[in-house]
Amino acid sequence: MGNKSVMVGCFILFLILMNLALLYKLYADPRIQIVIFQSKEQTFQEQNSAMKYQQRGFGQIPILQGLHYLSKINNNKDLEKLEEKQPLQAKSQCAVVDDAYKFDCYPETFIATKEKCEARGCCWQVGLSDQTLDKKNLSGGVMGVPFCYYPKDFPGYKTGLKAITPTGFTVGLTRNTTGFYPDDIMTLVMDVRYETDYRLRIRIYDPKNARYEVPLNTPKVSKAAPTQKYSVIVSKTGESFNFAVVRKILSPGRPVVLFNTSGAAPLIFADQFIQLSTFLPSKYLYGLGEHRGSFLHSLDWRRLVTWNRDQAPHDPDTGTNLYGHHPFYLMMEDGGRSHGFFLLNSNAKETALQPAPAMTWRTIGGILDMYMFMGPSPSEVIQQYTEVIGRSFMPPYWSLGFHVCKYGYKSVNETMAVVNRMKEAKIPQDTQWNDIDYMEEYKDFTTGTDKFGDQAAMVDTLHSMGMHYIMIVDPGISNKKSSSPYPPYDLGTKMDIWIKDSQGKPLVGKVWPGDVVFPDFTNPKSYDYWTQMTKDFHDKVQFDGMWIDMNELSNFYDGSLTGCPENKYDNPPYVPAVLGGKLKAKTICPSSLQNFSMAYNVHDLYGFTETMATYQALKTVRTKRPFVISRSTFAGQGHYGGHWSGDNFARYEDMYLSIPEMLNMNMFGISMIGADICGFHDDTTEQLCQRWQQLGAFYPFSRNHNDLGKKPQDPASFSQAMQDSTRLALNVRYALLPYLYTLFHKSNAMGETVVRPLFFEFPQDVNTYSIDDQFMWGSALMITPVLTQDTTVLNTYFPACVWYDLNLGKEIVGNSSRVKMDAPMDQINVYVRGGSILPLTMASLTTTESRKNNFKLLVALNGTGQANGGLFWDDGETIGTHESGAFNMIMFTAGRNFVSSEAMKAGYTAERMLLDSLFVYGVEAAPKSVTVNSKAAQYQYSPQYKSLNVKIPLVDLLKPLSVKWM
Ligand SMILES: *[C@@H]1O[C@H](CO)[C@@H](O)[C@H](O)[C@H]1NC(C)=O
Ligand SMILES: *[C@@H]1O[C@H](CO)[C@@H](O)[C@H](O)[C@H]1NC(C)=O
Ligand SMILES: *[C@@H]1O[C@H](CO)[C@@H](O)[C@H](O)[C@H]1NC(C)=O
Ligand SMILES: *[C@@H]1O[C@H](CO)[C@@H](O)[C@H](O)[C@H]1NC(C)=O
Repeated sequence: MGNKSVMVGCFILFLILMNLALLYKLYADPRIQIVIFQSKEQTFQEQNSAMKYQQRGFGQIPILQGLHYLSKINNNKDLEKLEEKQPLQAKSQCAVVDDAYKFDCYPETFIATKEKCEARGCCWQVGLSDQTLDKKNLSGGVMGVPFCYYPKDFPGYKTGLKAITPTGFTVGLTRNTTGFYPDDIMTLVMDVRYETDYRLRIRIYDPKNARYEVPLNTPKVSKAAPTQKYSVIVSKTGESFNFAVVRKILSPGRPVVLFNTSGAAPLIFADQFIQLSTFLPSKYLYGLGEHRGSFLHSLDWRRLVTWNRDQAPHDPDTGTNLYGHHPFYLMMEDGGRSHGFFLLNSNAKETALQPAPAMTWRTIGGILDMYMFMGPSPSEVIQQYTEVIGRSFMPPYWSLGFHVCKYGYKSVNETMAVVNRMKEAKIPQDTQWNDIDYMEEYKDFTTGTDKFGDQAAMVDTLHSMGMHYIMIVDPGISNKKSSSPYPPYDLGTKMDIWIKDSQGKPLVGKVWPGDVVFPDFTNPKSYDYWTQMTKDFHDKVQFDGMWIDMNELSNFYDGSLTGCPENKYDNPPYVPAVLGGKLKAKTICPSSLQNFSMAYNVHDLYGFTETMATYQALKTVRTKRPFVISRSTFAGQGHYGGHWSGDNFARYEDMYLSIPEMLNMNMFGISMIGADICGFHDDTTEQLCQRWQQLGAFYPFSRNHNDLGKKPQDPASFSQAMQDSTRLALNVRYALLPYLYTLFHKSNAMGETVVRPLFFEFPQDVNTYSIDDQFMWGSALMITPVLTQDTTVLNTYFPACVWYDLNLGKEIVGNSSRVKMDAPMDQINVYVRGGSILPLTMASLTTTESRKNNFKLLVALNGTGQANGGLFWDDGETIGTHESGAFNMIMFTAGRNFVSSEAMKAGYTAERMLLDSLFVYGVEAAPKSVTVNSKAAQYQYSPQYKSLNVKIPLVDLLKPLSVKWM
């Protein structure tokens, strides 16, 4: 970083390490493992006989029709009054106040007819204008108002007896009529568990027959939390079943109804069609991945489908299924509070959104296992969510460097030519990658020595340059007969770990090597298999991480070589609006058999289970921190690996859409996320690539990658000006890595996001709710990239606080409005928030080198002349340093005329941590003298930028430091 670029200053409230106590609390590390589900549930009858329900507030309050009534609730007294205030009886059961309140009774992907609709007992009304047209027969996520919708009295479940349990209460649900999907489950149990004061869990399941449940090892709770921040209200025994979840707020606030099924579509719980609708307390809805589009969802009749698929994300806002499955949302409420909702269910599903505001979940299997998180801050919601699914893994330090890859490097020579020209251009690069080109006939765990060259020697060379190496591995194992043995196939066959077809024979699919079989990663034996394969290959080629692709599962056959049988799993009564129209499209047959369950149930866990097995294999083989990047993901995966956004396109739109993707994945607990910088498909342009390298320098996972047959797009393949700007952007990244690493630590230890939207930091500022072209690194840095062609001025939104421009050191007093900022081609605009202290190092060409550089501190004083920050440091690759204590934690504090530093933990002393300079921004007047640990020190002061630059005579950060000026 040049002097100028380190000139920074700013201000604002709370910072990284305000709560030391919190930081040092060792958080339980909820390890997630595949466990065989055993239903410990008592049957409903057993529970019922245990203890009769006692009136304790449940069921006393009738549920309301829509939230417009509930917004009038002021206090608990008003809640009681609601009993008298029943909604007006509709004249006809089909009359609805507003189109926005029509809940779709015909969600199939073809248009209903009046006859078909009425045969379901539903109401039919054809929309009169284009806006009200039912568009479900068209592809795309915008649905329009349904023509066929539920009447108010649609028969469904009735609320039965309630019983208190040690963790909350249960309610029996019964229906005596069947609905229009086969095999209604006539009796259900709703089990309400007050797991913690801020976490509620509600399970609705079949008490008689255990159904598939996601084998995610979530926290076990045996006692109800004492002072819950929520209450659950269920309709009275004998009435239609409905429930609501209310956030309790003591005066002067008002209770907020977060979830309310009354007046929405009825609960349906058939064997292969489960539906739950709710009104929502606001229109600020985020999450529900993986989809392509803006970060803030539109509630204007959208349908979001999930069923993991090898699908290049093309058109935004179509709601089509992509690589991952994350049934989690975060919602902002009035007053800056937020809550989260997680449906722990892995079956194919869709979420329909409508303007009421309301949402409908439809899944075709499993149970309804729902979590709600009360926050109230958005960051707390994510911490509460990752407490359930698992915190993000701690990455090796080198993985925070810059990565280069391309599909189509035909040889070691071609690969090394890129590494060498990057070195010559003096552009930082830590890791070189190879796509499937390195393999022999695209077969896993082979190295194509003849054609490709000596991969092992190349990796040794990279290591000698202080660099690392990662190659792709696909799950499909070639079953081709050949004269030479192919141990990956032979051993897998011997160990009997392949996914089976419904007849019990290994299912044959097709990917790059031709016909293949797939390891079943829900089979515990597959861990030994995968570890053995990883070890055998690592014995030859000393790779450092694994890139697992094609794991949706991708299959070039629909189903299998021999298609799929005709049965209720391959052709279920209801198919969510998946691409290709069938569950088997571009993947394996839903009826395929895995150890844990049918693919129908566990299909969307394939990438997740492969990531766990790969993490385990790398841990065993390398005995260092594993680094796994997976294309397919499920909730909880971030504990084991990262993700990239898949096969994007070299377009400005894709560059912008990488930001919502990155924000979403951080909310889903996957902190290590990035998009292919400069675009995967299509040829990029120099200007696009230059801007994308600037943005990509701020992806947690920063990798440039492109497709076979496309022009090279590594930064060194462009003009001098492009190289200069990329070098600068990456130098800024490398300088900030100690800060980024500390953010990853906090993500791992406490569940904080690394990259986050502005509203996580400014939840009171409603203007920030829709901003997704700017984002934050932690709480201290705001990044505002250029995302459109020929643009050199940005209209940047500044939340109300003091900011300092990282490029120029200029102070900007934010006042919740937009300001025109110059954004010349050669820079990316980054702002430091006042109140922050950032630990930095000088950039080098690799992190192996930059880790040896001295530290520097960037202190950005806030409006009251204060700032604080921290630094987590360890050897960067040993597993579990946080748990074992082999790390250092340094805390920094600043006031109007001092900066001090103190080691709160000194568990890593193998490398010295020396500080050589200090930059302070927001120093109002030129000091007359500056001392470092009471000795006079050299300094410079810039009246223009009000910045103070102090030369520190190499102080050891493990010892106390005190810098003062007068
Ligand atoms: C400045 O930071 C301190 C410490 O983080 C905080 O207590 C104070 O309220 C902040 N002042 C302003 C104006 O944000
Ligand atoms: C979809 O349905 C609408 C209304 O019935 C009709 O006008 C339109 O032509 C249909 N489109 C397709 C692609 O079937
Ligand atoms: C079903 O339940 C409803 C409402 O409780 C009742 O009126 C009706 O008689 C019941 N029908 C049968 C067949 O049990
Ligand atoms: C790679 O380059 C070396 C030295 O330039 C050469 O001897 C070798 O044949 C090349 N290998 C391939 C596979 O192109």
